[in-house]
Amino acid sequence: MSTNASEFSDLDNSPNPEHWIQMMLQLPEMAPAINQIRALMFAPIKDNQCTSVLDGGCGPGIVTADMANQLPEALEVIGLDMSDHMLNYARDQALPKSVSFAKGSLCDIPFESNRFDAVRVERVLHHIADNETAVKELVRVCRPGGVIVACEPDVRRIYVHPVTPEDGVVFSRRYSEFMAAGDIAPFLPAMFERAGAHVESQTTVSMTFRDLDNLQEGFDSIEELRNTLREAHHEDDVERLDQAIERHEAFLDVPMTIVVARKLAS
Ligand SMILES: C[S@@+](CC[C@H](N)C(=O)[O-])C[C@H]1O[C@@H](n2cnc3c(N)ncnc32)[C@H](O)[C@@H]1O
Repeated sequence: MSTNASEFSDLDNSPNPEHWIQMMLQLPEMAPAINQIRALMFAPIKDNQCTSVLDGGCGPGIVTADMANQLPEALEVIGLDMSDHMLNYARDQALPKSVSFAKGSLCDIPFESNRFDAVRVERVLHHIADNETAVKELVRVCRPGGVIVACEPDVRRIYVHPVTPEDGVVFSRRYSEFMAAGDIAPFLPAMFERAGAHVESQTTVSMTFRDLDNLQEGFDSIEELRNTLREAHHEDDVERLDQAIERHEAFLDVPMTIVVARKLAS
């Protein structure tokens, strides 16, 4: 892969940060299930009438601003990211007055302990090698009794139709090598429990990308898949894949795990 998703681990030093900002903006069009995922993530924050929310790894800040618009009582909704490119884009939007952005790493969150009623983190932890520290930090800044909502892909179970399930497994293993911690999703509940939060629910929703040409532009992943299949001498799968792409029948499925946890009183 000439460009790959792990560039999110250090976006500002990657060859084309603007490309990744555009990918984030286009995501709801490419994979509409992200809207359902975001609604599921937002529900516990809204139901708990949170007035102080941290959006960890906020990227371009679209979701941060959206969330603040739906929380009229919120006093502060803070987006934290370590990329200046992302933060510059985020700060340039028309923003509700409760929203602000801060620069920093989830591995060393620049806020005091117990500050937030809710902490949200979407598609960030699999880009962080030391995700155990990031999870501990997210729990630290949440107040006891507050909610923590995380959503990460289960990169080990990525599947591309119409390749055979066996070849899908080979591909998803290879794909996960490009992430700092691609296989984090199954371990999230245990990580939150270890960090001092009780897991209340775990839900998996498929994020399906139907326009594989579009995705090809983004991650080079379809070419990577072809290479994986060729190395395994499965030219027949390559042929089926290309025919399916031509007929607009191919799709990429990424299972997304959403974990809702509550910080225990210490
Ligand atoms: C895939 S994007 C997700 C952005 C956002 N959550 C969204 O849903 O649009 C990942 C983001 O995590 C940020 N990131 C990666 N590692 C980080 C870290 N250690 N601390 C803070 N942000 C980080 C990247 O800069 C990028 O903006």
